[in-house]
Amino acid sequence: MRQIPSDSQARPNGRRSDNAGGGAAGATFRGVDAFASRVADKIGLSFPASRRQAVAGAIRRVMARRHIDDARLLLDQIGARQDLTDELVDEVTVGETCFFRGPAQFRLVRHTILPELRRRQAEGVDIRIWSAGCATGEEPYSLAILCEEDGLSGEVRIAASDISRKALADAMEADYGEWSLRNTGGYLKDRYFRRHGTRFRLRRELAERVRFTSVCLGTDTLPAPEKGLADFDLILCRNVLVYLDAAAVRRIARQLFDCLAAGGWLTTAPADPPLWKLAPFETLTTAAGVVYRRPLNGQDNRNSVAAHGGS
Ligand SMILES: C[S@@+](CC[C@H](N)C(=O)[O-])C[C@H]1O[C@@H](n2cnc3c(N)ncnc32)[C@H](O)[C@@H]1O
Repeated sequence: MRQIPSDSQARPNGRRSDNAGGGAAGATFRGVDAFASRVADKIGLSFPASRRQAVAGAIRRVMARRHIDDARLLLDQIGARQDLTDELVDEVTVGETCFFRGPAQFRLVRHTILPELRRRQAEGVDIRIWSAGCATGEEPYSLAILCEEDGLSGEVRIAASDISRKALADAMEADYGEWSLRNTGGYLKDRYFRRHGTRFRLRRELAERVRFTSVCLGTDTLPAPEKGLADFDLILCRNVLVYLDAAAVRRIARQLFDCLAAGGWLTTAPADPPLWKLAPFETLTTAAGVVYRRPLNGQDNRNSVAAHGGS
């Protein structure tokens, strides 16, 4: 069975881990277990059975802070109150991330995917990348750094989205602690960040290369060309689907496929569920794990397996 990352370590970015406790101990909150799924569905985050306890705990914490003692009342208020919905989203989601998380996948992007896209891309047409479920921005900014290092910044556009508005606000601040930079060497830190006290601010010209948008995958209408969310050459949707139930994963797999340009690539994380049966992807096995592609020229190369670089 797939393991859900427990993210039990300290979370200096302020977002909850899946096993965070506290806040609601000892108090009685009616209907949480019975209504947890409906609350999660209503905020667009249908969860698998393995997360039931974590989600119920998250809901209890919100109820405690809001002095709501019955889950039915909470359910009624979702949607009508944006601040409450945002708070629930923030408690229920897991925002663990860091710069260059999954280094093998970044090597695959740098040495295999970007060169392939550049060979194929028509003169003057930008390469379009989307970090779907970007949390506090470390993933899309890592891509921006990678492109800058390789002299590609002028030919790449990077979009990033998340369901959590709090995470997106933090992403746009682009100000990080050591924990976010635990996979980042001194050279990149010195070159792309300005240190102030114990924190690191990403250089403004780099931060401005990423365009952030609020999107609920699986619920919002996608592709959304009016938001710039269509025709991507590369999508990273990593460590997002592992927290969602099978029906949501199926919907999102189809959406991601539809958001890819012909020949476009999709990477998920090793902990995420497999997607090859959920949309007509071409599937490639690489040293960095399985990656998916939308076939070029409408060919259906479904489930083909090829050896690719990335180590
Ligand atoms: C564990 S973080 C992963 C961040 C980054 N992709 C990485 O791999 O480091 C998961 C993020 O997905 C977001 N998320 C979860 N479900 C989502 C959904 N249905 N739509 C959009 N974002 C979602 C959460 O808010 C959270 O910020």
